[in-house]
Amino acid sequence: MQHKRLWFDCDTGFDDAVALLVILRAASEYDLVGISTVCGNATLDNTTTNTLRVSEAFGIDIPIYRGAAKPLAQESQTIEELLGGGAMGTIGKPFPPAATRRVEAVDAVTALIQALETGPVTILATGPLTNIAVALLLRPDLATAVERFVFMGGSTTTGNHTAAAEFNTYADPESLDVVLRAGMPVEMFGLNATRQVPIGVEEEDAIRAVGTPLAEILADHVGYYLRMVDKVTPKQMALHDPTAAAYLAWPELFEMQDARVDVELTGRHTRGETVCEFRVPRKAQPNARVAATVAGNEVMRRVLAVLVEAVS
Ligand code: RIB
Ligand code: CA
Repeated sequence: MQHKRLWFDCDTGFDDAVALLVILRAASEYDLVGISTVCGNATLDNTTTNTLRVSEAFGIDIPIYRGAAKPLAQESQTIEELLGGGAMGTIGKPFPPAATRRVEAVDAVTALIQALETGPVTILATGPLTNIAVALLLRPDLATAVERFVFMGGSTTTGNHTAAAEFNTYADPESLDVVLRAGMPVEMFGLNATRQVPIGVEEEDAIRAVGTPLAEILADHVGYYLRMVDKVTPKQMALHDPTAAAYLAWPELFEMQDARVDVELTGRHTRGETVCEFRVPRKAQPNARVAATVAGNEVMRRVLAVLVEAVS
């Protein structure tokens, strides 16, 4: 089977790191050719440092490229204070500083353009979409080289960063607007989908029970993640980025719906909201497939198996 080329754009925090492990260890149809970092969960320096630390800890040797330090049209909106220093730095036992892994000399947008110039690429994005938007603004012709654009962001219901907007789209709504207009096959994994995938103390304990130093570190990060606000039950958090990654590994666990998706750019209370019209094509021409139903417990079970193996 011919493997497809995959590009991973992230703002590493904990769930981006888990998404990376899922695509590397379970998305068997794909070869990961590049990882790019963006400002989001934390500053660009910290999301890049986190990506290097996680890559070194798990023996990942895929090239890592630094991307955008700010969104297209607003000041950066990190959630470092919510997540703890650097989004992964002051949690329990942090991932050790990267001793050998370094970022590539070329920037993320240049590297992504080069990848797209040499053939079709599937893109998985789990942070604000600034890098993707800048690449498309510089080279709109390369939209046809994007075989699939899969992203964690938005919501068909409520937000998490605000009542209306999910964090990734809130952090850079103009970039999502560029992506939605580019003519790529877009597949959106919003909070309505990720909230169907619950992670809790059971998974934390199962990882810690492996007993290795890496298991201890990852379990500490699960424990810290469980304090976040996106509760799906009083003791369980929504597992955001790995839900989008799981779609590349196990698409049979998902039901997708065609929709017209627009992102609100000017609403005083709704900026960053994704407005999804499912009455297509009667009411509007579709521009995306939106994750609607997820076999969430099975996704969690399989993601846990990936994590247990990764820390063993
Ligand atoms: O709203 C969830 C998203 O915001 C996830 O990608 C998480 O990593 C944060 O970036
Ligand atoms: Ca993320």
